[in-house]
Formats: sequence, structure tokens, C-alpha cells
Amino acid sequence: MIDRATVDRIIDAADIVEVVSDFVTLKKRGKDWLGLCPFHNDRRPSFNVSRTKGIYKCFACGAGGGVVNFVMQHEQMTYVEALRYLAKKYHIEIEERELTDEERMAQNERESMLVVNEFAMQFFEEQLANTTDGQEIGMAYFKERGFTQESIKKFHLGYSPEGRSALYDAAIKKGYNRQILIDVGLCIDDGHGGGYDRFRGRVMFPVFNIAGKVVAFGGRTLRNDRAKYVNSPESAVYSKSNEIYGLFQAKRAITKTDKCYIVEGYADVISMHQSGFENVIASSGTALTEGHIHKIHRFTQNVTELFDGDEAGVHAALRGVDLLLKQGMNIKILLLPEGEDPDSFARSHGASEVKQYIEEHETDFITFKSEVLLKDSHNDPIKRSGAIRDIIQSIALIPERITRSIYGKECSKRFDIDESVIMAEVGKQFEKNREKDYREKQRREDDSQQQGRMIPPPDVPDSGISTGEHHGKPLNREGESGTKVLLEPFERDLIRYVVKYGMCYFCDTNNGDGTNRPTTLVEFVKNELASDGMAFTNAVYKRIFEESVSLIGPFYEALAEKGAQLEQQMEDEIKAGIVEIQRKGVTDLEDAEKQEEQLRSRVASKYHKEVEEFRLQYLQKRLSSDTDDLLRETVLNFVIDKYQLSRIHTQLGAVVVTEADRLTTFVPKAINAWKNARVNKRRHEVQQLLEHATPDEQRELFVELQKLDELRGELARLTGDPVINSL
Ligand code: CTP
Ligand code: MN
Repeated sequence: MIDRATVDRIIDAADIVEVVSDFVTLKKRGKDWLGLCPFHNDRRPSFNVSRTKGIYKCFACGAGGGVVNFVMQHEQMTYVEALRYLAKKYHIEIEERELTDEERMAQNERESMLVVNEFAMQFFEEQLANTTDGQEIGMAYFKERGFTQESIKKFHLGYSPEGRSALYDAAIKKGYNRQILIDVGLCIDDGHGGGYDRFRGRVMFPVFNIAGKVVAFGGRTLRNDRAKYVNSPESAVYSKSNEIYGLFQAKRAITKTDKCYIVEGYADVISMHQSGFENVIASSGTALTEGHIHKIHRFTQNVTELFDGDEAGVHAALRGVDLLLKQGMNIKILLLPEGEDPDSFARSHGASEVKQYIEEHETDFITFKSEVLLKDSHNDPIKRSGAIRDIIQSIALIPERITRSIYGKECSKRFDIDESVIMAEVGKQFEKNREKDYREKQRREDDSQQQGRMIPPPDVPDSGISTGEHHGKPLNREGESGTKVLLEPFERDLIRYVVKYGMCYFCDTNNGDGTNRPTTLVEFVKNELASDGMAFTNAVYKRIFEESVSLIGPFYEALAEKGAQLEQQMEDEIKAGIVEIQRKGVTDLEDAEKQEEQLRSRVASKYHKEVEEFRLQYLQKRLSSDTDDLLRETVLNFVIDKYQLSRIHTQLGAVVVTEADRLTTFVPKAINAWKNARVNKRRHEVQQLLEHATPDEQRELFVELQKLDELRGELARLTGDPVINSL
């Protein structure tokens, strides 16, 4: 693991404009930089990069994040991989945090497996290129299949020789660990302390993960074996239901075309590439899983299933349809003429023919399903109604209402049934599914609460972090149901100030001995909350706040360092300025003094500005590059969306005051508004309790109610103008 100090050093060093410029051409526009968004098919530049905020944001597709996020998203790297990438770019040596024994073992195992796989891939490639068998058997086969040299290189195809333990021997000789070879599935334990190769006499297709690491292999026999393909078993680096063949090679093209073709086999992917379709991935003969779809969804929402027209192909396509619909994907289906798979089709037709065929034969799932379900039915009414029901069920899986209604219309046309009848049925099914999902979700949440999970799973839509408007429907998490009082919007208001201005100077705090100490906004909020025993109830806000508080110490250290550095600069600048004044030969002493004074104040104000900027960026930069996806996203929404709104025009419109200028007013008001909401919420609860209370309990409750009312009055006086809350 990379330690925190190193992470901070990387984030500080990385200049987002520089990092993005390696991939996107940026032009200066005002304070920021603008370019074509690499995450969608951008025609007009909508991709905005702010150097001072250290973030990027596409105003068209919504992609956005800090510098680490950009690398993650663009290069499809994990958080740690992205950090390593940046560290390398900025020549920062990575200091690893001491791992626990357990972590070290797990990591060592995974890393060793990846290393061994890499070795095996190279071994197979070399066998293919440089041995007689490789050429005469392996290469001859690839040639016969029409694979070009370029494809062989691009997909790192290889040949695993006939010998019982060719790979095993070579690996052991090189010092690779026997157990790792066995665990990753390349070799099989022979029971006598040795091993033999899993993939003997096969041509090899390595499977890459998104980051480009070899996680598994598929080996195709060249004889009439019982098993046409042998694949790597599941291991610490390979989970079948999560890896997709070809995604690594396809991801750029998928993003660019905003579309992905799903085919069945390795050969299909490669032949399609050769026909000019690079946005192709294979489900490798297994059924698609949610895990696969999530991976694809990161790049596009539009998929086309491209399968053989035979029965197996139709069935595979049918299975995929519902799962894809449910994940909100837009799907098309394309069946090739019977007896053809994408591989044979692509090889027997020219690239432009393939393209034309695909364009002309793609159908939506309704057409596809009705054709399949009504095949040879001769208009049998029972089959017909069965088909309609089936299609309605599929439509009801679509999460988006408008899309559902579009397909409902389509279905109504197709079967000549009144649209309202179809939609009523879809609605019923949809509700049913929703109820089922809700129960499922409830169960999951209960489970996760028992495990003490802090953060709700990100796929739960209403997780209480709607960062949009106040009037959305933020969620009650802990037993708030039944009451209308929600704390989330109030907590959000406050945490937003913390994120945006946390390390800015806020006020002086009395040390109790007559001396004062400058205090940051975070410290102020922390003290305020502590004095009232308040804590964020929203899990994400709570984490943001904890992170911010934990950064106070490191911030002051960094500030001291930065201050010293700036002071040095300032001194140098003043010295140089004075030399300049003298050089100009000012003879009038008074004039010289005046000039020097101006110089000093100019430099001082510059210095002051830089310190302000440093304070402003410190927290934002770190939080917007946090490991936690949910946290990062929440933070970004604060940093990005609102900054254009943060100017408040006075009624006359003449003076412009920024939000930052009025923090000392806004922040205490936000805190009070939150306290007030807490009081209201409790009042509501007390009132409800009163309904079923015994006389004794009632007395107590009334006392509490009275106290609450007093508190409310007090807070109302403090909170003053309620308009502030809507800023
Ligand atoms: N597959 C598998 N194991 C098998 C058969 C198939 O893992 N015994 C997977 C492979 O990923 C294969 C895909 O299912 O690529 C599709 O199977 P199939 O159409 O039979 O194979 P092709 O790739 O078309 O193989 P070929 O054209 O070389 O016969
Ligand atoms: Mn085939």
C-alpha cells in the first residue's frame, strides 16, 4: 500500500492540465482550459479543466473528477495504479506503507500470479514464433484461420507445445514458484512434487483484465479433442463472471463509438477486429453476468449482441437480453445467417459488406423476441399471447420510464394491441419487480448493517447523498420514516462549506489565556459540533468530515512549509525590486522610498493571494482524489456544480460579494439551521409518541416538548433570514 504522505505528495505534484494534456488537446479559456471530451463523442469542446481546483468536468456527459480520477477513467486503471502512473510521471518515489502479514501474503500471491502469467504468455508467444512446432502447427493453424501477424501480436496469441511439462520446466528453471504455477492454473500438481502443463499442444489466447494484465488463458486444441477449449480455472486473479475477453483491446474503440458488440468466441473478436470493428468483446461462451455488464457499462450504454443464427446462438442472445435491459443498457440484436458466426462471416465478406450487413440487420429486442417466439407458430393465439407476455416482462425490466414507454408503443404496434393495455400491464409488472427488488435491497441493507458497513452500496439509488437540489427526496436512513423532517439537506449545506473552504482562515479562537489563535473553518465547525454533541448522520458526509478533521494537522505543517518557501521568494523579489529601483537611478530619496513601499505592498498582496489559494486548494485536492468512490463523487459535486453560483449579487447588482467573503455569516447559519431541523425532528417524534403514551410518559414528553420549543425559539432568533439556506 502507498502511504498517505506519498499520496499527498503525488496529488500535490500532479498538475491536472499537464496530465490531461497528454491525452486531450486543451486550449486556455478564461481561467480554465477547454477541450474535446475523451469520454464521449464530443463535437463541441465541453471538457473543462481547472488548474487551480485540480479538477476536470465535462459539461455534456458529466464525467468529472480530480487528477487521479482522470487517469483512472481514461486509462482504466485502479486507484493505486493511477497513483503509480502519476508518481512515475512526476518522479516521485513511492513509499509503501508496511503491509499487515495477511495483506502482504494476499498481495504477494496475486502479484506473483500475474508475473507468472506474464511469463507464460511470453513463453507461448516465443514458442509460436521461434520453434519448428510453433511455426508448423500453431502458426499454420492461425494462418489457415486468416489471422494476420498484426492480430497475433495485438492479442498476444501463442502456442503451448506438446511436451508434458514444457512450460513447467521452463518456469521452474527460471526460478518461478511451483505452487503459484499450480494455483494460477497453468500447471497441474502431479502428486509427486512436480507438475505438468494444463495447456498441452494448444494455441493460446491470453485473457487480459481492463488494466492490461494477463489474468487467464484459453487454449484451443488443434486436434479433435473432447474439449475444444481449455480455460484457466478461477483464481485469486481471475473471476470468470467478471472478466470479458477483448475488453482491454476494445475499450478505446467502445468509448469512441459509444457502442459495444458482444460476440461469443475468441476467434470472433479477432476476426471482427480484422474487419475494422474494434469495439468487440466476447462473453466466451458463458452466459453474461451482471459483473460483465457493469464492466461494459463503464464505457457505453449501447450494446449489440452479435450471434450465430443457430439455435445455440439464439438462446445465448435471449439469455443476454433481459439481463442487459435490467442494467439499463440499450440493446440491439443481430443474428447472422444460420451456420455463420461473426468469425466466419467476417472472413468470407469484405469489411464494407460486414458493415452494411450489421447496419441493415440490427433489430431491437421486441422484433427479435417476437420473431423467435412466434417462429413456426402459424398465428397460434396461445403462442401469441405467451410471446406478448414474455415481451412485456422484458419491457418491465427497463429502469427508465420513458424508454419503457417507447418500447411499449413498439410492442403495441407490433401486435396491434392498444398501447394503454400494454402499458398497464408493463406498469403492473414493473411495480412487482420493484417490490421484489426493494425487499431484496432491504435484506442486503440489514445484512450490511449487521456487518457494520458505513457506506450504503452505490447501486442503492436513494442513499441520502443526492447532491442535487434540496427538494429531491433525500433518504431517511435511521428510522426517520413517517416524519417529514430530513436532516440530510442541512448536513449537506454544512459539509459543502467544509469541502470548499475547510482550510480557509475563519476566525480567531480564544486560547483561554488572553491569546488568540487563527482558526480554520473545519476547526470552527468541529468545535461547534462537539460542544453540542452533534455528528453527521449521513454516512458519506460523516466520512468527509472525519477525513477533513484528520487533515488539519498535516495542513498546518504543509502551510508552514509553504509559508517559509513563499517568504523566501518574497524576500528575493523585494531585493530584486530594490536593485531595479536603484538601477533606474532615482535620486529623490522620498520618491525612492515611495517606490519601495509600493513594491513591498505589491509583493505582500501577491504572497497573501498565494497563501489563500493554497488554503483553498488543500482540502479539495485531497478529497477529490480520495480512494472512496462515493466520497469523491460527492465532493466533486460540491466543488464543480456550485462554483459558478457562488457569487451573490446585492440587490443593486453593483457590488459583487462572493460566498467566500460571507462565510462567517453563512456557516454559523448553516449550523443553526441544522440544529433547528434536529429540534423539529425530535418534536415530531415526541408528538407521535404522545399519541400512545401513558399519563406518566405524557408528562415527561410534555416537559421535553416545552424544552424543545424554547430551543426552537432561541435558534430562530439566531438563524434569522431563512433565505440563506437556499443558497
Ligand atoms: N468455449 C469454451 N469451452 C468450450 C467451448 C467454447 O470456453 N469447450 C468458449 C470459448 O471462449 C469460445 C466460445 O466459447 O471462443 C465460443 O465457442 P465456439 O463458438 O465453439 O468456439 P469458437 O471460438 O467459435 O471456436 P472455433 O471457431 O475455433 O471453433
Ligand atoms: Mn467459431
